[in-house]
Formats: sequence, C-alpha cells, structure tokens
Amino acid sequence: MLSALARPAGAALRRSFSTSAQNNAKVAVLGASGGIGQPLSLLLKNSPLVSRLTLYDIAHTPGVAADLSHIETRATVKGYLGPEQLPDCLKGCDVVVIPAGVPRKPGMTRDDLFNTNATIVATLTAACAQHCPEAMICIISNPVNSTIPITAEVFKKHGVYNPNKIFGVTTLDIVRANAFVAELKDLDPARVNVPVIGGHAGKTIIPLISQCTPKVELPQDQLATLTGRIQEAGTEVVKAKAGAGSATLSMAYAGARFVFSLVDAMNGKEGVVECSFVKSQETECPYFSTPLLLGKKGIEKNLGIGKVSPFEEKMIAEAIPELKASIKKGEEFVKSMK
Ligand SMILES: NC(=O)c1ccc[n+]([C@@H]2O[C@H](COP(=O)([O-])OP(=O)(O)OC[C@H]3O[C@@H](n4cnc5c(N)ncnc54)[C@H](O)[C@@H]3O)[C@@H](O)[C@H]2O)c1
Repeated sequence: MLSALARPAGAALRRSFSTSAQNNAKVAVLGASGGIGQPLSLLLKNSPLVSRLTLYDIAHTPGVAADLSHIETRATVKGYLGPEQLPDCLKGCDVVVIPAGVPRKPGMTRDDLFNTNATIVATLTAACAQHCPEAMICIISNPVNSTIPITAEVFKKHGVYNPNKIFGVTTLDIVRANAFVAELKDLDPARVNVPVIGGHAGKTIIPLISQCTPKVELPQDQLATLTGRIQEAGTEVVKAKAGAGSATLSMAYAGARFVFSLVDAMNGKEGVVECSFVKSQETECPYFSTPLLLGKKGIEKNLGIGKVSPFEEKMIAEAIPELKASIKKGEEFVKSMK
C-alpha cells in the first residue's frame, strides 16, 4: 500500500510545472533571501498552485521580491523586511516555510548550529503562532531534530498547538536516496521511491532500501556504502562548497516538492504521501519521521515504519538515543526561554 501511495507524491514538483491546475495557496517563506530561500521562492513563484507569495528576511527582501515579481506567473510577490513587518507577511497564510538561520561550514555537525538557529526558529514560530496559527508550518532550519520540538513547544506556549500541521522537512534525504539508487542501478530517478525515516542528522537518517520501489537487490557491502552516502550526503555538499555553505539548490527543490505535496493534499488530492519529522507514536521517540498520508488538515494518517530488514532495524535502534537527546535539547530550550 505504501509504495503504491508514495509514487504520486514523489512526482509532485514535476506535476506542478507541467499541469494547468489552478489553486490559491498563500505561502510565506521566512529566510527568503538566503541560499535556500531564493531558489525555493523562485520554484514557488513558478507554480500554478501558489497565488500569493510573501517573503520575509532580515536582509534583502525588497530586492528578491522585486526581482521575482517580474516573472510572468500569477502569484503575487511581496517582500517584508525586519521584525516589525513579520506579522503582515504571515497574516492569511496557508503554508509557512522556514529556511532562516545559519548553515554548516566544513567540520560542523548540524547540532553545532543549535545556539544560533534555536533562537531564530523560536522567534519566527512564535510570530506564526500569533499571526497564522492555522497554517501548515514547514521547518527547514537545522538541526531539524531539535527545531521541530522547539516549534511544537512554542505553539503549545501560545495555546494553538496542532501536531498535524508542524513538519520537519526531511525531503532532501528522500530526494538524495532516490537519485543515488537510480544512479547505482541505472534506473529513471523519477520512478524510484525510497522512504527515509528517523531524523535529519547523520546516523538518525535511515533509508529503507528494503522498501524501495522498484525493488532493488544490493550485496551487503554496497548497501552499507549507499546507506552511508545518503546519511553523509549533506556533508558531501558542505565539503565540496568548502566554506560557502551547505546544500541550497537541491534543498530548494526538496522544499518545493514538500510544499506542493502538502498543497495538493490540502486541495483534496488523495493518496499524497511524504516522509517528514513530526510528532509520532511509532517509536519511543516523541518525534520521528515516517511516511505520512497527507490530507486537507495536514497529517491524515501516519503510515508507520512498515516491514524493515534486520540491518534497518539495527539502525533504528541506534538512532533512538541521539534523537531523544536532540528532542530533549529543543524542548528544554523553550522551557528555559522567558
Ligand atoms: N532540512 C534540510 O534538509 C536542510 C538542508 C540544507 C540546509 N538546511 C538548513 O537551512 C538553513 C538555511 O540554510 P541556507 O544555506 O539558506 O543559509 P543562508 O545563510 O544562505 O540563508 C539564511 C537566511 O536566513 C536569514 N535569517 C537569519 N536570521 C533570520 C531571522 N531572525 N529572521 C529571518 N531570516 C533570518 C539570513 O538573512 C539569510 O538570508 C540552515 O539552518 C541549514 O542548516 C536544512
């Protein structure tokens, strides 16, 4: 059932470029002037699913918005600069995507970003809780394993928490797994779907190659190498960029794919499935990524982990202590805030 459902969602980005579907999603991007924010905003502006795009950052949004607003697609674009303009950026939004914050440099883990990004995410999501409490919130800012618990605690503090509407965007892990499997097996990447579960950092990224569609057979050594490459793919980009940041273009693609799947599901499309790091009861971790059936109100059903191999089972067990610690760190951060 899972693989049958998963395919349409995987093609969401391509579909949004190629169909004449009309829709009226109002989408905000917070951190819109950054390495991810700019190409993500371009992809959103290019989509017929989006009717209003509001762009917020602490720098450069007037220029980014002026530039994008000249594109001959129907979404209106407006830039908002600095905290006093944030409320107007958020009012009336259906979806808020947040790639604000600092990226990694070589040698850094995602957790090394915690001190800076925790405050940024807590501040921005507090504004969301106040000005668009019903919107779907998609967090890209790292460390996602902590920024999602932070977002949840902030929404709880404001009395507007809905766990079905808060998503940690892990889609890039799925996109990478699909690309790498297709490359290895000489398949069309558009037809490959690998669920990736757990979290979004190193060993907590757990590709379920045993559930790949189409089914792929790999000797154990190749499977271990492929799994390691998917887990360290972000670091591969950080090293290649040599101090100029982390993945931005592939992340913009992945972020847009996730938003389009979400909007498709909000529009009533059935069978839309994406993996995302969310509030979960599938393991002993209070947050965990698994394939989710999306619907009009966000998560419609958690499709769970499904049948996994002993190799994958071991990875899940090994990821849990790190995940729990990252989650606790995020929760404690909000509790310690004034
Ligand atoms: N989830 C994922 O798979 C994934 C993948 C890649 C990167 N990331 C993360 O995404 C984040 C952004 O990466 P990037 O490469 O775009 O970084 P970047 O430095 O190029 O852009 C970040 C943007 O955030 C803005 N910003 C900073 N503080 C802000 C605030 N308080 N309010 C609004 N905007 C603010 C900056 O002005 C900048 O424009 C990083 O945390 C990075 O680790 C996540």
